[in-house]
Amino acid sequence: MKILVTGGAGYIGSHTVIELLKENYEVVIADNFSNSNPKVLDRIKEISGKEFKFYEIDLLDKDNLDKVFVENKIDAVIHFAGYKAVGESVAKPIEYYHNNLTSTFVLCEVMKNHGVKKIVFSSSATVYGLNNTSPLLETMPLSTTNPYGSTKLMIEQILNDLYISDDQWGIALLRYFNPIGAHESGRIGENPNGIPNNLMPYITQVAVGKREKLSIFGSDYDTHDGTGVRDYIHVTDLAVGHIRALERFQDNTGVEAYNLGTGNGISVLDLVNAFMKVNDVKIPYELVGRRAGDVATCYANSEKALKELNWKTEKTLEDMCRDSWKWQSNNPEGY
Ligand code: WQD
Repeated sequence: MKILVTGGAGYIGSHTVIELLKENYEVVIADNFSNSNPKVLDRIKEISGKEFKFYEIDLLDKDNLDKVFVENKIDAVIHFAGYKAVGESVAKPIEYYHNNLTSTFVLCEVMKNHGVKKIVFSSSATVYGLNNTSPLLETMPLSTTNPYGSTKLMIEQILNDLYISDDQWGIALLRYFNPIGAHESGRIGENPNGIPNNLMPYITQVAVGKREKLSIFGSDYDTHDGTGVRDYIHVTDLAVGHIRALERFQDNTGVEAYNLGTGNGISVLDLVNAFMKVNDVKIPYELVGRRAGDVATCYANSEKALKELNWKTEKTLEDMCRDSWKWQSNNPEGY
Protein backbone atom coordinates (compact mmCIF):
# COMPACT_ATOMS: atom_id res chain seq x y z
CA MET A 1 0.00 0.00 0.00
CA LYS A 2 1.17 3.53 -0.79
CA ILE A 3 0.63 6.17 1.90
CA LEU A 4 0.89 9.92 1.46
CA VAL A 5 2.25 11.49 4.67
CA THR A 6 1.68 15.24 4.76
CA GLY A 7 4.13 16.94 7.13
CA GLY A 8 6.20 13.76 6.98
CA ALA A 9 9.47 15.61 7.65
CA GLY A 10 8.19 16.85 11.01
CA TYR A 11 8.67 15.37 14.48
CA ILE A 12 5.74 12.95 14.60
CA GLY A 13 5.56 12.63 10.81
CA SER A 14 9.16 11.44 10.44
CA HIS A 15 8.76 8.87 13.23
CA THR A 16 5.59 7.61 11.54
CA VAL A 17 7.38 7.32 8.17
CA ILE A 18 10.04 5.17 9.87
CA GLU A 19 7.38 2.81 11.23
CA LEU A 20 5.52 2.70 7.88
CA LEU A 21 8.73 1.74 6.05
CA LYS A 22 9.48 -0.84 8.74
CA GLU A 23 6.09 -2.44 8.00
CA ASN A 24 6.82 -2.40 4.24
CA TYR A 25 4.42 0.36 3.26
CA GLU A 26 5.41 2.53 0.30
CA VAL A 27 5.65 6.16 1.42
CA VAL A 28 5.26 9.52 -0.29
CA ILE A 29 6.08 12.58 1.86
CA ALA A 30 4.73 16.05 1.15
CA ASP A 31 6.28 18.79 3.26
CA ASN A 32 7.10 22.50 2.80
CA PHE A 33 9.72 22.59 5.58
CA SER A 34 7.84 25.39 7.36
CA ASN A 35 8.47 23.59 10.66
CA SER A 36 10.92 20.84 9.72
CA ASN A 37 14.42 20.34 8.33
CA PRO A 38 15.44 18.75 4.98
CA LYS A 39 18.15 16.78 6.79
CA VAL A 40 15.41 14.61 8.29
CA LEU A 41 14.94 12.96 4.89
CA ASP A 42 18.52 11.66 4.86
CA ARG A 43 18.15 10.47 8.46
CA ILE A 44 14.97 8.54 7.52
CA LYS A 45 16.86 6.83 4.68
CA GLU A 46 19.80 6.10 7.00
CA ILE A 47 17.60 4.57 9.72
CA SER A 48 15.22 2.63 7.45
CA GLY A 49 17.61 1.69 4.65
CA LYS A 50 14.63 2.25 2.38
CA GLU A 51 13.63 4.67 -0.34
CA PHE A 52 10.53 6.86 -0.38
CA LYS A 53 9.29 9.68 -2.59
CA PHE A 54 9.37 13.30 -1.48
CA TYR A 55 7.59 16.40 -2.75
CA GLU A 56 8.49 19.83 -1.39
CA ILE A 57 5.06 21.38 -1.67
CA ASP A 58 2.62 23.47 0.29
CA LEU A 59 -0.77 21.81 0.64
CA LEU A 60 -2.36 25.14 -0.26
CA ASP A 61 -0.95 24.66 -3.77
CA LYS A 62 -3.73 22.53 -5.32
CA ASP A 63 -2.03 22.00 -8.69
CA ASN A 64 1.16 20.67 -7.15
CA LEU A 65 -0.74 18.52 -4.69
CA ASP A 66 -2.82 17.11 -7.55
CA LYS A 67 0.44 16.18 -9.28
CA VAL A 68 1.35 13.97 -6.31
CA PHE A 69 -1.85 11.97 -6.85
CA VAL A 70 -1.37 11.86 -10.64
CA GLU A 71 2.19 10.53 -10.26
CA ASN A 72 1.47 8.11 -7.41
CA LYS A 73 -1.38 5.70 -6.81
CA ILE A 74 -2.09 6.81 -3.24
CA ASP A 75 -4.16 4.38 -1.11
CA ALA A 76 -4.51 6.50 2.04
CA VAL A 77 -3.29 9.73 3.62
CA ILE A 78 -1.88 10.49 7.06
CA HIS A 79 -2.35 14.22 7.54
CA PHE A 80 0.15 15.84 9.92
CA ALA A 81 0.86 19.10 8.07
CA GLY A 82 -0.24 22.19 9.97
CA TYR A 83 0.90 24.93 12.31
CA LYS A 84 0.98 23.69 15.91
CA ALA A 85 2.19 26.31 18.41
CA VAL A 86 -0.54 27.21 20.90
CA GLY A 87 0.90 30.60 21.91
CA GLU A 88 1.68 31.59 18.32
CA SER A 89 -1.88 30.74 17.29
CA VAL A 90 -3.23 33.27 19.81
CA ALA A 91 -1.05 35.98 18.25
CA LYS A 92 -1.71 34.91 14.62
CA PRO A 93 -5.25 33.44 14.44
CA ILE A 94 -5.92 34.21 10.77
CA GLU A 95 -2.66 32.55 9.64
CA TYR A 96 -3.54 29.47 11.73
CA TYR A 97 -7.13 29.20 10.49
CA HIS A 98 -6.11 29.82 6.90
CA ASN A 99 -3.17 27.43 6.86
CA ASN A 100 -4.63 24.55 8.86
CA LEU A 101 -8.19 24.66 7.52
CA THR A 102 -7.62 25.63 3.88
CA SER A 103 -4.83 23.09 3.44
CA THR A 104 -7.21 20.41 4.72
CA PHE A 105 -9.94 21.55 2.32
CA VAL A 106 -7.50 21.35 -0.59
CA LEU A 107 -6.26 17.94 0.51
CA CYS A 108 -9.77 16.47 0.83
CA GLU A 109 -10.79 17.95 -2.54
CA VAL A 110 -7.82 16.42 -4.32
CA MET A 111 -8.30 13.10 -2.51
CA LYS A 112 -11.94 12.98 -3.58
CA ASN A 113 -11.03 13.82 -7.18
CA HIS A 114 -8.70 10.83 -7.22
CA GLY A 115 -11.05 8.47 -5.40
CA VAL A 116 -8.84 8.33 -2.28
CA LYS A 117 -11.15 8.22 0.74
CA LYS A 118 -9.02 6.97 3.63
CA ILE A 119 -7.47 9.56 5.95
CA VAL A 120 -5.83 9.49 9.38
CA PHE A 121 -5.91 12.96 10.93
CA SER A 122 -3.46 14.31 13.50
CA SER A 123 -5.75 15.75 16.17
CA SER A 124 -4.99 16.61 19.78
CA ALA A 125 -6.20 16.14 23.35
CA THR A 126 -6.49 19.90 23.39
CA VAL A 127 -10.02 19.44 21.96
CA TYR A 128 -11.13 18.26 25.43
CA GLY A 129 -10.81 21.83 26.72
CA LEU A 130 -10.62 22.81 30.38
CA ASN A 131 -13.80 21.33 31.86
CA ASN A 132 -13.44 17.56 31.47
CA THR A 133 -12.09 15.34 34.24
CA SER A 134 -9.28 12.87 33.40
CA PRO A 135 -9.07 10.10 32.39
CA LEU A 136 -10.51 11.61 29.22
CA LEU A 137 -12.95 9.64 27.04
CA GLU A 138 -13.67 10.16 23.34
CA THR A 139 -17.36 10.68 24.16
CA MET A 140 -16.72 13.69 26.43
CA PRO A 141 -17.85 17.18 25.35
CA LEU A 142 -15.31 19.06 23.24
CA SER A 143 -14.23 22.68 23.48
CA THR A 144 -11.12 24.72 22.82
CA THR A 145 -9.32 27.68 24.34
CA ASN A 146 -6.99 28.82 21.55
CA PRO A 147 -7.00 29.08 17.74
CA TYR A 148 -4.62 26.13 17.32
CA GLY A 149 -6.94 23.87 19.30
CA SER A 150 -9.94 25.30 17.44
CA THR A 151 -8.42 24.34 14.08
CA LYS A 152 -8.11 20.76 15.35
CA LEU A 153 -11.71 20.69 16.57
CA MET A 154 -13.03 22.33 13.40
CA ILE A 155 -11.18 19.85 11.18
CA GLU A 156 -12.64 16.97 13.22
CA GLN A 157 -16.11 18.46 12.61
CA ILE A 158 -15.37 19.01 8.90
CA LEU A 159 -14.23 15.40 8.50
CA ASN A 160 -17.36 14.20 10.32
CA ASP A 161 -19.48 16.21 7.86
CA LEU A 162 -17.47 14.82 4.95
CA TYR A 163 -18.36 11.28 6.03
CA ILE A 164 -22.05 12.25 6.41
CA SER A 165 -21.93 13.53 2.80
CA ASP A 166 -20.24 10.36 1.50
CA ASP A 167 -20.16 7.19 3.55
CA GLN A 168 -17.38 5.71 1.44
CA TRP A 169 -14.81 7.62 3.53
CA GLY A 170 -12.77 5.93 6.27
CA ILE A 171 -11.60 8.59 8.73
CA ALA A 172 -9.55 8.20 11.95
CA LEU A 173 -9.21 11.23 14.24
CA LEU A 174 -6.21 10.59 16.49
CA ARG A 175 -6.13 12.72 19.65
CA TYR A 176 -2.53 12.91 20.83
CA PHE A 177 -1.68 13.52 24.44
CA ASN A 178 1.91 14.62 25.09
CA PRO A 179 4.34 13.10 22.57
CA ILE A 180 7.97 13.01 23.79
CA GLY A 181 11.06 10.92 23.16
CA ALA A 182 12.84 10.09 19.91
CA HIS A 183 13.75 7.17 17.68
CA GLU A 184 16.03 4.75 19.60
CA SER A 185 18.85 5.48 17.11
CA GLY A 186 19.10 9.07 18.32
CA ARG A 187 19.20 10.20 14.68
CA ILE A 188 15.79 11.91 14.56
CA GLY A 189 13.95 13.75 17.31
CA GLU A 190 12.10 16.82 18.44
CA ASN A 191 13.72 19.92 16.97
CA PRO A 192 11.71 23.02 17.97
CA ASN A 193 12.55 26.40 16.44
CA GLY A 194 13.63 28.96 19.04
CA ILE A 195 12.75 28.64 22.74
CA PRO A 196 10.84 25.36 23.29
CA ASN A 197 7.23 25.75 24.45
CA ASN A 198 6.98 22.11 25.45
CA LEU A 199 8.45 20.55 28.58
CA MET A 200 10.72 17.75 27.32
CA PRO A 201 12.64 19.72 24.68
CA TYR A 202 13.19 22.42 27.31
CA ILE A 203 14.53 19.80 29.74
CA THR A 204 16.90 18.35 27.14
CA GLN A 205 18.16 21.83 26.21
CA VAL A 206 18.91 22.52 29.89
CA ALA A 207 20.68 19.15 30.11
CA VAL A 208 22.83 19.92 27.06
CA GLY A 209 23.68 23.38 28.43
CA LYS A 210 21.71 25.38 25.88
CA ARG A 211 19.34 26.75 28.58
CA GLU A 212 20.32 27.75 32.10
CA LYS A 213 17.43 26.24 34.06
CA LEU A 214 13.90 24.93 33.74
CA SER A 215 11.00 27.07 34.99
CA ILE A 216 8.29 24.82 36.37
CA PHE A 217 4.97 26.55 35.69
CA GLY A 218 2.88 26.21 38.81
CA SER A 219 3.46 24.16 41.97
CA ASP A 220 0.07 24.77 43.59
CA TYR A 221 -2.14 22.62 41.37
CA ASP A 222 -4.44 20.06 42.95
CA THR A 223 -2.09 17.19 42.01
CA HIS A 224 0.08 14.78 44.03
CA ASP A 225 3.04 17.16 44.05
CA GLY A 226 1.43 20.46 43.00
CA THR A 227 2.88 20.46 39.46
CA GLY A 228 0.94 19.84 36.24
CA VAL A 229 0.05 16.25 35.35
CA ARG A 230 0.07 15.05 31.72
CA ASP A 231 -0.01 11.82 29.71
CA TYR A 232 3.45 11.57 28.11
CA ILE A 233 3.60 9.10 25.24
CA HIS A 234 6.69 7.90 23.36
CA VAL A 235 6.63 9.27 19.81
CA THR A 236 7.35 5.78 18.44
CA ASP A 237 4.28 4.36 20.20
CA LEU A 238 2.30 7.27 18.80
CA ALA A 239 3.65 6.56 15.29
CA VAL A 240 2.60 2.91 15.48
CA GLY A 241 -0.90 4.03 16.47
CA HIS A 242 -1.23 5.67 13.05
CA ILE A 243 -0.51 2.42 11.27
CA ARG A 244 -3.09 0.55 13.36
CA ALA A 245 -5.59 3.30 12.43
CA LEU A 246 -4.77 2.84 8.70
CA GLU A 247 -5.44 -0.89 9.07
CA ARG A 248 -8.73 -0.26 10.88
CA PHE A 249 -10.12 1.62 7.90
CA GLN A 250 -8.39 -0.31 5.12
CA ASP A 251 -11.56 -2.32 4.42
CA ASN A 252 -13.97 -0.26 6.48
CA THR A 253 -15.70 3.09 6.20
CA GLY A 254 -16.77 5.40 9.01
CA VAL A 255 -15.32 8.17 11.17
CA GLU A 256 -13.95 7.52 14.66
CA ALA A 257 -11.90 9.45 17.25
CA TYR A 258 -9.24 7.68 19.31
CA ASN A 259 -7.20 8.81 22.31
CA LEU A 260 -3.53 7.96 21.87
CA GLY A 261 -2.05 8.12 25.34
CA THR A 262 -0.61 5.79 27.99
CA GLY A 263 -3.44 6.33 30.50
CA ASN A 264 -0.84 7.33 33.11
CA GLY A 265 -0.70 10.83 34.61
CA ILE A 266 2.90 12.03 35.15
CA SER A 267 3.71 15.35 36.85
CA VAL A 268 6.36 17.82 35.76
CA LEU A 269 8.48 16.92 38.79
CA ASP A 270 7.96 13.18 38.10
CA LEU A 271 9.32 13.71 34.59
CA VAL A 272 12.24 15.89 35.66
CA ASN A 273 13.26 13.39 38.35
CA ALA A 274 12.92 10.43 35.97
CA PHE A 275 15.02 12.23 33.36
CA MET A 276 17.77 13.04 35.89
CA LYS A 277 17.81 9.47 37.20
CA VAL A 278 17.80 7.68 33.85
CA ASN A 279 20.43 9.90 32.27
CA ASP A 280 22.50 10.75 35.37
CA VAL A 281 22.29 14.47 34.57
CA LYS A 282 21.30 17.46 36.71
CA ILE A 283 18.36 19.65 35.66
CA PRO A 284 18.39 22.90 37.65
CA TYR A 285 14.83 24.19 38.00
CA GLU A 286 12.81 26.95 39.63
CA LEU A 287 9.17 26.75 40.75
CA VAL A 288 7.41 29.78 39.22
CA GLY A 289 3.80 30.90 38.61
CA ARG A 290 1.27 29.01 36.53
CA ARG A 291 1.24 29.37 32.72
CA ALA A 292 -1.99 30.88 31.36
CA GLY A 293 -4.26 28.30 29.76
CA ASP A 294 -2.75 25.25 31.47
CA VAL A 295 -5.01 22.66 33.06
CA ALA A 296 -3.91 20.89 36.26
CA THR A 297 -4.39 17.37 35.00
CA CYS A 298 -4.83 15.80 31.55
CA TYR A 299 -4.44 12.11 30.75
CA ALA A 300 -6.16 9.58 28.52
CA ASN A 301 -8.49 6.67 28.74
CA SER A 302 -7.20 4.77 25.69
CA GLU A 303 -9.36 1.66 25.99
CA LYS A 304 -11.14 2.40 22.70
CA ALA A 305 -7.83 2.40 20.80
CA LEU A 306 -6.88 -0.88 22.45
CA LYS A 307 -10.25 -2.47 21.63
CA GLU A 308 -10.73 -1.17 18.08
CA LEU A 309 -7.17 -0.61 16.86
CA ASN A 310 -5.50 -3.35 18.87
CA TRP A 311 -3.03 -0.63 19.94
CA LYS A 312 -1.45 0.18 23.26
CA THR A 313 1.78 1.85 24.30
CA GLU A 314 4.86 -0.36 24.77
CA LYS A 315 7.55 2.16 25.77
CA THR A 316 8.18 3.22 29.38
CA LEU A 317 8.79 6.65 30.88
CA GLU A 318 12.43 5.62 31.20
CA ASP A 319 12.55 4.85 27.45
CA MET A 320 11.10 8.30 26.75
CA CYS A 321 13.72 10.01 28.95
CA ARG A 322 16.60 7.92 27.59
CA ASP A 323 15.65 8.39 23.94
CA SER A 324 15.02 12.15 24.31
CA TRP A 325 18.47 12.58 25.83
CA LYS A 326 20.19 10.36 23.24
CA TRP A 327 18.74 12.53 20.45
CA GLN A 328 19.62 15.84 22.14
CA SER A 329 23.09 14.87 23.35
CA ASN A 330 24.00 13.54 19.88
CA ASN A 331 22.48 16.60 18.17
CA PRO A 332 23.05 19.56 20.56
CA GLU A 333 22.12 22.05 17.79
CA GLY A 334 19.33 19.87 16.36
CA TYR A 335 19.62 18.98 12.67
C1 WQD B 1 3.43 20.08 29.84
C2 WQD B 1 3.53 20.45 31.32
C3 WQD B 1 3.36 22.79 31.72
C4 WQD B 1 7.14 23.87 29.74
C5 WQD B 1 0.89 21.17 24.58
C6 WQD B 1 -0.20 21.66 23.68
C7 WQD B 1 -0.97 20.49 23.13
C8 WQD B 1 -0.02 19.50 22.50
C9 WQD B 1 1.05 19.07 23.47
C10 WQD B 1 0.00 19.84 20.13
C11 WQD B 1 2.54 21.51 31.74
C12 WQD B 1 4.73 22.29 32.12
C13 WQD B 1 6.05 23.17 30.23
C14 WQD B 1 8.05 24.49 30.66
C15 WQD B 1 6.74 23.66 32.49
N1 WQD B 1 0.55 20.06 21.35
N2 WQD B 1 5.86 23.07 31.58
N3 WQD B 1 7.80 24.35 32.00
O1 WQD B 1 0.75 22.26 27.44
O2 WQD B 1 0.34 19.82 28.06
O3 WQD B 1 0.33 20.51 25.67
O4 WQD B 1 1.73 20.27 23.90
O5 WQD B 1 -0.96 19.14 19.87
O6 WQD B 1 -1.88 20.97 22.18
O7 WQD B 1 -1.09 22.45 24.46
O8 WQD B 1 2.47 20.47 26.93
O9 WQD B 1 4.90 20.32 27.23
O10 WQD B 1 3.82 22.62 27.02
O11 WQD B 1 3.48 21.30 29.09
O12 WQD B 1 6.53 23.56 33.72
O13 WQD B 1 9.06 25.15 30.27
O14 WQD B 1 4.82 20.98 31.57
O15 WQD B 1 2.88 23.76 32.66
O16 WQD B 1 2.11 21.23 33.08
P1 WQD B 1 0.92 20.81 27.13
P2 WQD B 1 3.75 21.22 27.51
